[in-house]
Amino acid sequence: MKKWVGKVRMLGLFSLMAIFLTACGKENLTALAPKGYSAERSFEVIIISILVMTVVFIVVMAIFTYVLIKYRRKKGQEDYIPEQIEGNKTLEIVWTIIPILLLVIIAVPTIATTYDLADESQKEDSINVNVTGKQFWWNFDYVNEGIQTSQDLYIPVDTRVYLNMISGDVIHSFWVPTLAGKMDVNPENENVMYIEAYEEGVYWGKCAEFCGDSHSLMDFKIVVVSEEEYDQWIENMGTPTEVELETASAQEGRDLFEQSCLSCHAIDGATQAPAIGPNLTNFGNRTMIAGVLEHNKEELVEWIVDPASKKPGNGMLNAPYLQGGPGSEISTEDAEKIADYLLELKSTEVVPEFEPFED
Ligand code: CUA
Repeated sequence: MKKWVGKVRMLGLFSLMAIFLTACGKENLTALAPKGYSAERSFEVIIISILVMTVVFIVVMAIFTYVLIKYRRKKGQEDYIPEQIEGNKTLEIVWTIIPILLLVIIAVPTIATTYDLADESQKEDSINVNVTGKQFWWNFDYVNEGIQTSQDLYIPVDTRVYLNMISGDVIHSFWVPTLAGKMDVNPENENVMYIEAYEEGVYWGKCAEFCGDSHSLMDFKIVVVSEEEYDQWIENMGTPTEVELETASAQEGRDLFEQSCLSCHAIDGATQAPAIGPNLTNFGNRTMIAGVLEHNKEELVEWIVDPASKKPGNGMLNAPYLQGGPGSEISTEDAEKIADYLLELKSTEVVPEFEPFED
């Protein structure tokens, strides 16, 4: 192989990486632009570590280059052996102490931050949400408000919210990079973390622990609203049932939903029954469908008819109507009616601006 071929290949590879990697990262899905207390503390630790490592890299490379040039083998000195320094006490002590000092510089803020982010002293007086991770969605249970919802977690701005997390099946990991670090969500023990957002907006959350076929699609959102909007939202979520259905299709959809879907999906945010499937209260106001699909009728119909095509391995596949059970296979026509019904479920005006596919 000609020499230049390898070089051209490398150039091509790096160009491709540059193209693809620059597209990585969405606004509100990055740990490098923190907009919440926990993320900001973590970011500071990241910066300290990078600074220390950069200093080490520069110093080591400088010494390396200096030695390489100054002590290279010179003509006429082929048999010259430089002074041997092994066992030099002073030097040994110096290069043992330097790394220890560097580690201390990293360890002090890291440990302080770790304890700070695990602080539960304000838990009793804060909003508490019990978070349950399930293949492949998230249930949010507002403990003191008596509200259940899923996929979109509403919180007020500049307010600490405690999340008590447990899994309903396998291990998941709750991660909203712009607001906080990851936290494992285990089946046996409850893990607690808090989040606090500085700015209103919609923040993208991900499951960060491999948990099955659709792990990478186990997305959710944190919707940060003003305090007044939050109170409004809680109130609306508690009394969503009397939504006026505008179309006949939606009314028929409601009947179909009650026959085929209601055994798993509650549509009353105040329902405290254990959730089999996501609670669909005010579904019309959701940011996305199933956490990853654009919020429109077309996607919703496709999701209802063939959920496996959108999120392989998800629990909807066990729905009676897809199992040849009582409702057996659902027709596109019926799915459209159910979609019309669900999209009309809007009893709150608290709707965040969110354009997930704008990029
Ligand atoms: Cu849940 Cu990955």
